[in-house]
Amino acid sequence: MAPERAVAIASTFDLRALPPDFLANPYPVYAVLRERDPVRAMPDGSWFLTRHADLVAVYRDAATFSSDKHVEFAPKYGPDSPLYEHHTTSLVFNDPPLHTRVRKLIMGALTRRAIADLEPGLVALVDGLLDRIAAQGGGDLIEDFAAAIPVEIIGNLLGVPHDERGPLRGWSLAILGALEPVLTPQRRQEGERAVLDMLDYLRVLVAHRRRHPLDPQRDVLTRLIQGEADGERLTETELLHNCIFLLNAGHETTTNLIGNALVCLHEWPQEKTRLLQRLHDARHQPEQQEAILSAAVDEFLRFESSNQLGNRRALRAAEVGGVRLPEGALVTLCIGATNRDPAVFEHPERLDLSRPNNRHLAFGFGVHQCAGLSLARLEGRIAIGRFLARFPRYTLSAPPVRGGRARFRGFLRAPFVTEA
Ligand code: HEM
Repeated sequence: MAPERAVAIASTFDLRALPPDFLANPYPVYAVLRERDPVRAMPDGSWFLTRHADLVAVYRDAATFSSDKHVEFAPKYGPDSPLYEHHTTSLVFNDPPLHTRVRKLIMGALTRRAIADLEPGLVALVDGLLDRIAAQGGGDLIEDFAAAIPVEIIGNLLGVPHDERGPLRGWSLAILGALEPVLTPQRRQEGERAVLDMLDYLRVLVAHRRRHPLDPQRDVLTRLIQGEADGERLTETELLHNCIFLLNAGHETTTNLIGNALVCLHEWPQEKTRLLQRLHDARHQPEQQEAILSAAVDEFLRFESSNQLGNRRALRAAEVGGVRLPEGALVTLCIGATNRDPAVFEHPERLDLSRPNNRHLAFGFGVHQCAGLSLARLEGRIAIGRFLARFPRYTLSAPPVRGGRARFRGFLRAPFVTEA
């Protein structure tokens, strides 16, 4: 994007009216905003933050900057709508005490052991997908690979039977799509339908698991149903909506991590060659290989953050980055911009897969920091590492097609062949 164009978009920046060239590459616009107007007053009265230090300050002060969305979402969805009930019951859009209660249960269920248990199934799943791709000589990076992984992993985590997983991805896309800055009637309708269908589905699944509980040390849903030993339990509504959230949270975000990474490597051939060489040099040291892939996954998360925007509401007047925000101010936290802040990252516009001390905010920060980050990193490492080991010379065969969303950054399609 030409510098004048970035300045022009930044000077009238409005999340509700984003031009297509912004969605293709928002970073030049974010750079202008970060330099000239890092706490920007938006046309609708909200505030848009782009500096790393300011995001960290807001994340740290959860007593002032609330995640509770009752006030904001009542006019957006209508107080009786399924989307309103869903979002205002999920932990990510709540403050203590509900947030603390649900988070404790989820963290207790997403143990190292529960995550380690998923690894053999993950490896088998990825290898099966790679076999199919090898037989065809290529396919679509998103449909045939990136999107096929999280749905199975999160399905395994909650014990959703294999033959019932078909609708999960569509539901998830529809519910999260309704969080976009612009809610079209179609997006609203699809989101409402998806919440109702998912509730119907989960009621049956939960009732079955109540009758036939599994080992709570290994099965996340059983653990969430039974609650903590100290008597902390979720109500049925809390349980169902937080299961929906778990199924959705681990879905599109992880698909986009894997898809964005493989497209990025195609666009940065020297970085790809360097990564392949380092992995080859470490071929007899599995721990070293894991460390190389871990650093690469974190750099992909920084460089093309799959979740670009977060939101908070100021419960009282507060100052951020030298700007006074009034009580009730709605704040958008631009993760995509802060992850390229030169105050924190050297050469931020460069993909550097061995970047040291990568303090990106792709998983957020503070009390709401992503509860699934270990699982997401594991999925990223295994999927990207095994794909590269199998198809080191893969190349895109047509330009990839973007999802066209501001909040969740990723591709819908990316056709490729396994050999250039
Ligand atoms: C690359 C993949 C992922 C990314 C980029 C991502 C990103 C995020 C971000 C930015 C937040 C914080 C939201 C806020 O502060 O308002 C969050 C919260 C959360 N994520 Fe993830 N996530 C990913 C994968 C996952 C997976 C695989 C799971 C589930 C197993 C998961 C479960 C959660 C949960 C439960 C929360 C809410 C935490 C809370 O509010 O305390 N995420 N995620």
